[in-house]
Amino acid sequence: MEFTRISEIDMPVSRVGLGTWAIGGTFWGGSNEKDSIKTILKALDSGINLIDTAPVYGYGFSEEVVGKALRMYGARSKVVVATKAGLQWQDGKIRRNASPARLRHELEDSLKRLKVKRIDLYQLHWPDPSTPLEETAETLLRFKEEGKIRAIGLSNFSTAGMTKFSEVAPFQTVQPPYNLFEREMEKDILPWSRDAGITILGYSALCRGLLSGRVGLGTEFPDGDIRRVDPKFQSPRMDRYLAAVNELDAFAREKFGKRVVHLALRFILDKLQDGIALWGARKPEQLAPLEDCFGWGLDQAALIEINGILSRNIPEPIGVQFLAPPQ
Ligand SMILES: NC(=O)c1ccc[n+]([C@@H]2O[C@H](COP(=O)([O-])OP(=O)(O)OC[C@H]3O[C@@H](n4cnc5c(N)ncnc54)[C@H](OP(=O)(O)O)[C@@H]3O)[C@@H](O)[C@H]2O)c1
Repeated sequence: MEFTRISEIDMPVSRVGLGTWAIGGTFWGGSNEKDSIKTILKALDSGINLIDTAPVYGYGFSEEVVGKALRMYGARSKVVVATKAGLQWQDGKIRRNASPARLRHELEDSLKRLKVKRIDLYQLHWPDPSTPLEETAETLLRFKEEGKIRAIGLSNFSTAGMTKFSEVAPFQTVQPPYNLFEREMEKDILPWSRDAGITILGYSALCRGLLSGRVGLGTEFPDGDIRRVDPKFQSPRMDRYLAAVNELDAFAREKFGKRVVHLALRFILDKLQDGIALWGARKPEQLAPLEDCFGWGLDQAALIEINGILSRNIPEPIGVQFLAPPQ
């Protein structure tokens, strides 16, 4: 495992974090609690010490499962617990709400579900244009002063939003989408964060499984699985993404003796330098490729080759706009 630092968190943080969105079940066609707990424990035993969750993942369920796994693991002080706030749900509909009252309510609920006294990293899930950003920033700062959170993070923010937020409250991390196929943040968020000393947590490291090497044209996703509506998973576009996966896999084998899943993780780790890749898993065996992601790196020639494969197969890449909750 490789480690990095997040300001305000007084221990090294693993550069691969376990993402627990799918463990929540909603948008992923359901989940299995036993497997989920085993996965979290496997991650912790494999050197991962950052677990990323959110109240909206399974409408509280993901946080509850993380809380149970933490109790079983025992060593709470060795784990960096990251959760989020600012999304409200009702009757299966999600909307943004980062008002001070909503954040307070969410914080107390998250502490209970996670069964912890303090959250290590508390992230604003999406910007909420209906609440003045100053109010949101002041509220998160208050939580920090009260000792209920250690570090503040932003997620799905633009550099303009990050600049505005930082004028009211310092923050320590930012969480944009980042994987071989979703690279928009390289243009602005990456350099901005590097200059400001902000740690990046890139989400959807495997592009929702597309880069695992185990998804094919015949793969069927269950009802309610987000990949049924994710534009990257629809033909004919999906054919082009899969062609890229095949070429990336061949390149990884030939050049490094690895597979596409390792290349996908290594790419993020090398590009982010001291940032973190969030890898979603809900079965322990999905973490088996982890150890082969370390001890090697991508040189300039490899990056050129990878960019060539991507631009040949996917001349017009698309982002994660379909994920954005209504404002
Ligand atoms: N801040 C935000 O708005 C935001 C948005 C999205 C994600 N995130 C965070 O980032 C984390 C990771 O992103 P993600 O969950 O969207 O996607 P991901 O990490 O790109 O992919 C996760 C999925 O890929 C499949 N997978 C993982 N390892 C595999 C393996 N070794 N072999 C085969 N399949 C494998 C699994 O799907 P199956 O189990 O179906 O096979 C898994 O659920 C999330 O859990 C969450 O913590 C944050």
